[in-house]
Amino acid sequence: MLKGKKIVLGITGGIAAYKSAELTRRLVEQGAEVHVLMTKAAQQFITPLTLQTLSGHPVHADLFSLTEEQEIGHIHLADTADLILVAPATADILAKVTHGICDDLITTVLCATRAPVLFAPSMNVHMWENPIVQENIRALKKHRYTILEPDSGYLACGYTGKGRLPEPDALIQAIQRSLKGSFRRDILRSLKKVRAKGHVTPL
Ligand SMILES: Cc1cc2nc3c(=O)[nH]c(=O)nc-3n(C[C@H](O)[C@H](O)[C@H](O)COP(=O)(O)O)c2cc1C
Repeated sequence: MLKGKKIVLGITGGIAAYKSAELTRRLVEQGAEVHVLMTKAAQQFITPLTLQTLSGHPVHADLFSLTEEQEIGHIHLADTADLILVAPATADILAKVTHGICDDLITTVLCATRAPVLFAPSMNVHMWENPIVQENIRALKKHRYTILEPDSGYLACGYTGKGRLPEPDALIQAIQRSLKGSFRRDILRSLKKVRAKGHVTPL
């Protein structure tokens, strides 16, 4: 199911960013082509070198780098992705996307893409319960975004509650569900087009 699929993995600056290394490895193992984008803050938690080594592709972080833009092009990446997963997704990126802010590579690619977008928020339980964060989550759900609920348990900040990044297995299952859904939508869309052209008699 993941073989040959182009997955863009956006990593933002949460403590759970270390889990994205294992997630990248597992996705590659299953045949996905993984392109990693990182925010500046994410690079405080895990190095681009680790993700570059595991994904087998250069890691991009800078919207205004001439070399990076020439190598991938943010619009090309947005157009060619089969799916974008942001994991971990900080409270910050959820707020930015909710309000249409495009001030770095990840937010700009997210704004420009028509691919399915999944967010896996991860943060301190009080941040998660903050009404503004919850309002942003509701707004994102109203649009075409899928929010993968955080797990509950012991959090790296020492609290116990909701806010843990789901394990790589659960994230991969969510990717598979989403890809299956968009495959079905594509088939239905093509059928409708063929019918509209009169090649198929409606049932
Ligand atoms: C040690 C540390 C851990 C952090 N963990 C989280 C986290 O798990 N979730 C979160 O939303 N923000 C977390 N933050 C705050 C973000 O790093 C901060 O809001 C940052 O601006 C996010 O930038 P980005 O969304 O561009 O990656 C943490 C900050 C520090 C210093």
